[in-house]
Amino acid sequence: MKYRSQKVAYYFFALSMLLLILQIVYGFIMAFAHMGFDGLHEWIPFNTATATHKNLLVVWILSGFMGAAYYIIPDEAERELVSVPLAKLQFWTFAIVGVIAVAGFHMGWFEGRKFLEIPRPLDYLVALNVVGFLLLILFTLLKGKKKTTTSWVLTMGLVFAALLYLPGMIYFENIAVDSFFRWWVVHLWVEGVWELIMGGILSYLLIRLTGVDREVIEKWLYVIVGLTFLSGILGTGHHYYYTGGPDYWLMIGGIFSSLEPLAFLGMTAFAIQMYRKGNKKHPNKLALFWTLNTAILSFLGAGLLGLAHTLPQVNLYTHGTLVTAMHGHLAFWGAYGSLVFAIISYAMPQMTGRKIYDNKIGNLAFWMANIGILGMTAAFAAAGVAQVSLERIAGYEFMQAAKVIQPHFFVLIIAASVFTTGILLFVWNFIKFGVPSDDALQTQGDSAFQAIA
Ligand code: HEM
Ligand code: HEM
Ligand SMILES: [Fe+2]
Repeated sequence: MKYRSQKVAYYFFALSMLLLILQIVYGFIMAFAHMGFDGLHEWIPFNTATATHKNLLVVWILSGFMGAAYYIIPDEAERELVSVPLAKLQFWTFAIVGVIAVAGFHMGWFEGRKFLEIPRPLDYLVALNVVGFLLLILFTLLKGKKKTTTSWVLTMGLVFAALLYLPGMIYFENIAVDSFFRWWVVHLWVEGVWELIMGGILSYLLIRLTGVDREVIEKWLYVIVGLTFLSGILGTGHHYYYTGGPDYWLMIGGIFSSLEPLAFLGMTAFAIQMYRKGNKKHPNKLALFWTLNTAILSFLGAGLLGLAHTLPQVNLYTHGTLVTAMHGHLAFWGAYGSLVFAIISYAMPQMTGRKIYDNKIGNLAFWMANIGILGMTAAFAAAGVAQVSLERIAGYEFMQAAKVIQPHFFVLIIAASVFTTGILLFVWNFIKFGVPSDDALQTQGDSAFQAIA
């Protein structure tokens, strides 16, 4: 770590881990409810659990992204963050709004708009908070000695993500119109601007971990940004198939969303190529594992499993079923969850000065989390395919089909337990690192790398 102010990232990483654990708790509540064990129903009915699960997901990922930006931008711009007290204020207000939102969900204060459940009054607070965050990042970048492509791509990803939150805040009477604009947020986030954030963070990590020249790595970034926008913007059409809009979305959505996996494939090829080119001397193997994992699992979860149900002929049957949950879990984990784990794995030894790089617990955490999520994806896939054939082909009622597929949730719970053990081990390691310290300050970039290179 080169700059004192980078330490502020720790708060965001810690919050991210805490919220992930909470998200998992709600996942288990739903999985048990699906199996017929819904004992908590009176206090946490399924709609509350599902709203909390999905919104906690968004918040822990965003908290991870903010931590990543606070860590990366000073390092890339070669200067301290413009204000640490303001960054801490931004952290606490962000956390408080999050707590109010989650508490509100349990009192029925949510909007029934998947992923965007936070009530409008709180949305304004979120928007204000994010403006504060962006100003801190932008001023740091603009006042910095260097303005690298990596830091621009990351920052522009964050700026666009904030701007795209706005269409989701407009109030529409008509639910079809509301749904149309909800996708501007949800789709254009995960299949658009968040990919820039991902590209920026991956590029930062690959530059540091492989030792390959920045010029080579950043050239790839342009290709990825190009592919993302080319396919992702019109790819939004895959959510407009049978929603009351014009028919042309069938064609546009089908074609452009089928091209979206290319951007993820680009990301995979990029990471693997840089790994092969690199000198493999960096001791932080776990950070490298998580980085490569992100590149590979995002292609599987988002690219391939997205492609599996993106054509209108398929989506007609699979829409809104557990097939979507199958894709949602591996895509979110592979692309964004694993990415947050990669930057945390890289930053923690740097911030704390404790070089716990390649330890048993860290390795076990890596394998258990990833094998667990693959198992969960398989369980959702089996349940989803059964649900589609019963509900959409054989004509079963929703709850009739739900009863037949209960055993799949037993498998889900087993796989989710493996996943959760991996997460808990990772968090255990995170805690063991201790808190960041100024003793970890280095005058030269990544000291671990330079000590060996
Ligand atoms: C480890 C414990 C977890 C369990 C048991 C679990 C279980 C579930 C269940 C049962 C649902 C509801 C499916 C339905 O609509 O009926 C769900 C939804 C969802 N979960 Fe999880 N989950 C877990 C962790 C995660 C993690 C770590 C992520 C992301 C990285 C995640 C992302 C999602 C998403 C995106 C949805 C919405 C899916 C859709 O759009 O249909 N979950 N989860
Ligand atoms: C990292 C990137 C991605 C993430 C995190 C992600 C996650 C999700 C989630 C959570 C949903 C459920 C949304 C909701 O119902 O509100 C969804 C839906 C969908 N995704 Fe993705 N996705 C990603 C990339 C892709 C890609 C690249 C494709 C196509 C190739 C794709 C195809 C679809 C389709 C067709 C649906 C609609 C499913 C339905 O009709 O129920 N996704 N995605
Ligand atoms: Fe989409």
